[in-house]
Amino acid sequence: MRNLAAPISPKLPVLMHGADYNPDQWLHDPAILAEDIRLMKLAGCNVMAIGIFSWAALEPSEGQFQFEWLDQVLESFRQNGIYAWLATPSGARPAWLAGRYPEVLRVGPNRVRNLYAGRHNHCFTSPVYREKTAIINRKLAERYGSHPAVVGWHISNEYGGECHCELCQEAFRSWLKRQYGTLDALNLAWWSTFWAHTYTDWQQIESPAPHGERNLHGMNLDWRRFVTEQTVAFCKHEIDAVKWANPGLPVTTNMYTLETLDYRKFAPILDVISWDAYPDWHIAQDNVKVASTFAFLHDMFRSMLHKPFVLMESTPSMTNWQAVCKLKKPGMHRLSSLQAVAHGADSVQYFQWRKSRGSTEKFHGAVVDHAGHEHTRVFRDVAELGGTLASLSEVTGSATHAETAILFDWENRWAVKDAKGPRNAGLHYEETVQDHHRAFWQQGIPVDVIGSEDNFAPYKLIVAPMLYLCREETGRKLEAFVERGGTLVVTYWSGIVDEHDLCHLGGFPGPLRKTLGIWAEEIDALHDYDLNGVFLLDGNPLGLSGRYESRQLCELIHLEGAQALGQYTDDFYAERPALTVNSLGQGKAYYIATRLGDDFLLPFYRAVAAQAGVARVLDSELPAGVTAQLRTDGSSDFIFLMNFSDKAAEVVLDGRSYIDLETNETLETVIPLPVDGIRVLKRDAAPLRS
Ligand code: GLA
Ligand code: ZN
Repeated sequence: MRNLAAPISPKLPVLMHGADYNPDQWLHDPAILAEDIRLMKLAGCNVMAIGIFSWAALEPSEGQFQFEWLDQVLESFRQNGIYAWLATPSGARPAWLAGRYPEVLRVGPNRVRNLYAGRHNHCFTSPVYREKTAIINRKLAERYGSHPAVVGWHISNEYGGECHCELCQEAFRSWLKRQYGTLDALNLAWWSTFWAHTYTDWQQIESPAPHGERNLHGMNLDWRRFVTEQTVAFCKHEIDAVKWANPGLPVTTNMYTLETLDYRKFAPILDVISWDAYPDWHIAQDNVKVASTFAFLHDMFRSMLHKPFVLMESTPSMTNWQAVCKLKKPGMHRLSSLQAVAHGADSVQYFQWRKSRGSTEKFHGAVVDHAGHEHTRVFRDVAELGGTLASLSEVTGSATHAETAILFDWENRWAVKDAKGPRNAGLHYEETVQDHHRAFWQQGIPVDVIGSEDNFAPYKLIVAPMLYLCREETGRKLEAFVERGGTLVVTYWSGIVDEHDLCHLGGFPGPLRKTLGIWAEEIDALHDYDLNGVFLLDGNPLGLSGRYESRQLCELIHLEGAQALGQYTDDFYAERPALTVNSLGQGKAYYIATRLGDDFLLPFYRAVAAQAGVARVLDSELPAGVTAQLRTDGSSDFIFLMNFSDKAAEVVLDGRSYIDLETNETLETVIPLPVDGIRVLKRDAAPLRS
């Protein structure tokens, strides 16, 4: 993976910088559009995402198309060296469309059809919506598919949500027939004998509803899978309607931190991954938690295609939808934007270019404020970043090479949260996964965030926190990974159910039991105010010592070949194993039986990573809240040193020779990093390992 990927677009082989641009909101004022071009150049912007919500401006009445305004905007982009991600407009529809064809509007889980309103308010199954979308997409493709200013397709906007209309119910039933073949198979998979729910006719099946079925966990999982497949199919339908005109033009769709849709399933039909990141900086005393959460998310989106991604949206100043919409303090715009680049983004783009004058997003941050000129703090920050990105263009296309992977599955996320017990006060799945990720982030160790269906072979170390839903097949893959010399870390509440949310019989952690060498007999849930602890045993092979607080869940395990490294300190299970390691084939598998905090995870993963031979970006200890991320083109490594703590820090280099990529200055042994400071360093790449 250590090679230079092709740039996202050969037309613009540098880091992209720009914003969502909505000229259709300003067509009544042509002076604004001319001024926009002047300001875009001044801000060092080279790309705009255009046409995202333009359906009414493009097709003001059914079959009547109006492209002249878009022709003009794209022509002035071409003349001024600005490029465009051209959107398909399906994210919001014109009133005439909903008025004439009410079936395009969504029906909620309560079975009430929405009125014409908002956006993302459409049925993915409706043949009419598909047809109308294909028509407008084909027109756009015909006209602009080979336009010199267009660098790619921005398909729709933040796909999400679900529809429960009759068309969707029928599609769900057909999907189930394809999955199960017979009602007997479905009834068994859904364990529907419980509460006499046995289905005797496919027509009896209805999607989950607040006033209907909610307790069949197998059905809930299948509904989420169906909604994902239906949405991916809709996206593919949109892509087919644009790709034909110029198959070489890349397609993407902007994703976000959505729980209900398995975004990883879109990756195979996309050329580029893009996502919308809105970190809530400055909510606490320091930004470490926010930074590490977004590091995790950037890693997750990058890992979907293992190549540079597009940061399609971020805010240049504040959002307008957080509980408290804080400004970015000076320095944070640069740090936040380059954090994305550090984790593999080849673009920094904003929502949005110019603030709307009215409606619900009129106070959302934008590059150009209502004041309408460039003499604002935000505009200066953006323009400065434009210069910085230009000076970093060598980074474009470079890869991230991670030897560690964290497993994070959407279907596990759905299932683990759907379960009743053992702790309905919160299992904190996402937070737990991010806690484990943070231990690597803090050490400057690159991490891929992958799913169970991905290839495990490239990694030396795989971490699977709370892998509650673990298919037999995933168990076999992890076993083979360890046997071949990999190091695996699994936590409590893993290997509990299969892909139908049916418990593994014969002892937990089900398909992981042999690999981990343990049997998890019971799990004790703790109140938030309860604590237990883990005491590290003398002479353990990780060289760890001391006692660490543990909380929330304590699994009571038996050793079946594994060795105990730590024991519980309290309760009736004091002195029973809480941390174990098992040797299998050439590898090792660790089990953490209870929830432990950062104070444990950092030294634990320091020792585990060292034993697994996982390299850090810099061979030195980083101060708290400082991280180092790496991209490489095979001959040069680009190292991003970032300080998210509330204190000035110093990073001690590791004896290799470095230059500052922005200033070309040769660097000495210690790099000072102010609060919110970031430096991008370059060094010769290490020779390729065989
Ligand atoms: C999302 C949408 C944008 C805009 C922003 C505001 O990411 O894609 O259209 O609404 O949120 O933060
Ligand atoms: Zn529907």
